[in-house]
Amino acid sequence: MLEVKDINLHYGAAQALRGVSLQVVKARITCVLGRNGVGKTSLLRAIAGHHGISAGHILFDGMDISRLRPHERARLGIALVPQGREIFPLLSVRENLETGFAVLPRRERRLPDEVFALFPALKDMLGRRGGDLSGGQQQQLAIARALVMRPRLLVLDEPTEGIQPSIIKDIGRAIAYLRD
Ligand SMILES: Nc1ncnc2c1ncn2[C@@H]1O[C@H](COP(=O)(O)OP(=O)(O)O)[C@@H](O)[C@H]1O
Ligand SMILES: [Mg+2]
Repeated sequence: MLEVKDINLHYGAAQALRGVSLQVVKARITCVLGRNGVGKTSLLRAIAGHHGISAGHILFDGMDISRLRPHERARLGIALVPQGREIFPLLSVRENLETGFAVLPRRERRLPDEVFALFPALKDMLGRRGGDLSGGQQQQLAIARALVMRPRLLVLDEPTEGIQPSIIKDIGRAIAYLRD
């Protein structure tokens, strides 16, 4: 469903990606591995439209999305869970989740039960400030916020970075559930 074809990406004069290609098949988990600084985040941000590419193409369901803005890609169903989670610390958990509504038509703007089935801990924390959650809870919130927009492609950047093993397991289960 996603095809990255031979892309280059630059930061000014510095080239971060050179001729990168990748195919993502529906109902499969696709992993990008590599040491620090090889360009994993740059690739994922390019897919979500947060950074432009200087060569190549990105196709989603066969349509060239290389020039679309991030919100247009989100509307097509591409959701990014960024490295470092980027929770809004002063907004409540509920408000953080509701930011996912922006791409949805008004009648579909409700929190899906599925989100709380996957991450039950969030249900009891809806009124808490995002910044008061633990790292693991923030990661769950970041994934849940992406799921609120009912994406077709979920792009996770370092979803287990700095997180305790029990929560890593929960996140793994959630990802496998979504794939199935
Ligand atoms: N905003 C930026 N400005 C300039 N260089 C950057 C920027 N972001 C990343 N880079 C550089 O691009 C390269 C790839 O970084 P990144 O995509 O973050 O790698 P990874 O996620 O695999 O650790 C690194 O050399 C990094 O220093
Ligand atoms: Mg990274």
